[in-house]
Amino acid sequence: MSGLPLTMRAVLLDRVTPAEDIVLREVPVPTVRPGWALVKIKAFGLNHSEKLLRLNEINLNHIHKPIIPGIECVGEVVDPSDTDLAVGTKVVALMGGMGRSFHGSYAEYALLPRHLLFPLEPDLPLSALGAFPETYFTAWGSLFQSLQLTSEDILLVRGATCALGYAAIRLAKALGCHVVATTHKKEKMKLLQNADEVLLDDGTLSGKVSGVTKALDLVGPRVLKDTLRALDPGGVVCQTGLLGGVYTCQNFDPIKDIPNGVYLTGFFSNFPTQEVMKELISFIHQHHITPDVGHVFDFSDIRSAIMAQDDGTVNGKIVVVVEEDAS
Ligand SMILES: NC(=O)c1ccc[n+]([C@@H]2O[C@H](COP(=O)([O-])OP(=O)(O)OC[C@H]3O[C@@H](n4cnc5c(N)ncnc54)[C@H](OP(=O)(O)O)[C@@H]3O)[C@@H](O)[C@H]2O)c1
Repeated sequence: MSGLPLTMRAVLLDRVTPAEDIVLREVPVPTVRPGWALVKIKAFGLNHSEKLLRLNEINLNHIHKPIIPGIECVGEVVDPSDTDLAVGTKVVALMGGMGRSFHGSYAEYALLPRHLLFPLEPDLPLSALGAFPETYFTAWGSLFQSLQLTSEDILLVRGATCALGYAAIRLAKALGCHVVATTHKKEKMKLLQNADEVLLDDGTLSGKVSGVTKALDLVGPRVLKDTLRALDPGGVVCQTGLLGGVYTCQNFDPIKDIPNGVYLTGFFSNFPTQEVMKELISFIHQHHITPDVGHVFDFSDIRSAIMAQDDGTVNGKIVVVVEEDAS
């Protein structure tokens, strides 16, 4: 399509890359192909899984290399190819192989498959939505699809001082639940003021909480058996996060490690659908939910954004603005 530049700035990874070594390179703007639309990226959030990709997963054979990382973005369609989207349509995109099997969002443009593009209302300010796609979709799916949360539930959010934890607390509070949130750092307890109760997690919660009916575990396999033991019969645990640094369950015996009458489920954000995104966006509007943005960086300063992510110094979502909305 005419009027588009031939090259763009992007982060390109082909090996394990410390944050200090991140640079923006000049690469070709992707050429459209059937079923894929070209999106001008306005903003994207940083995610823990991108850190895992950059520091470890990049070595795996199934990762396309070199790869532009980034599993989510908000932007505007600039070339729809043969899809039904009009030029100028505002969209959210996330997951489905983005930033792993095909180039992602740490760039000025991304070529994305139609089924991963979720149109937004035309009047929404895009740069303000950069904190929302993956974090809120995952929180939503974990709470409503997997945990089937209702307003009667007492929800435990374990490892709550991450973007996903803050989002889960906001959604659950909007629904009317009682929320118990944990952090492993005493100095961070004050960040969880939106929850009804805040607990310091020393690795053992079983025997220290009572009445919890649903649990969202963001620390993961390191503590999962303990989370399961913290619930009474009828309780459900959703395993969604891996913050504890252990990625799979070793020596997990379902017969002995899942207490009688307690249920275990999980959530994987790889399969967003138009229907769920619509429901989520309308819930967010209805309840006037604003994502907890920790810090906003300009794209030209992406190295600082990634260094801040590695340092863990930002509380809330790190958002990178590629292009401000026209006012
Ligand atoms: N299942 C899925 O499809 C899916 C989708 C999205 C995210 N996730 C997972 O959900 C988790 C949160 O993701 P995110 O992107 O929201 O993370 P994030 O915002 O990048 O948060 C990272 C922060 O979590 C904090 N944290 C809290 N409890 C921790 C603990 N026990 N151990 C280590 N760090 C802890 C750390 O700060 P402090 O240590 O200072 O508290 C760290 O700075 C990640 O494990 C991510 O992989 C899963």
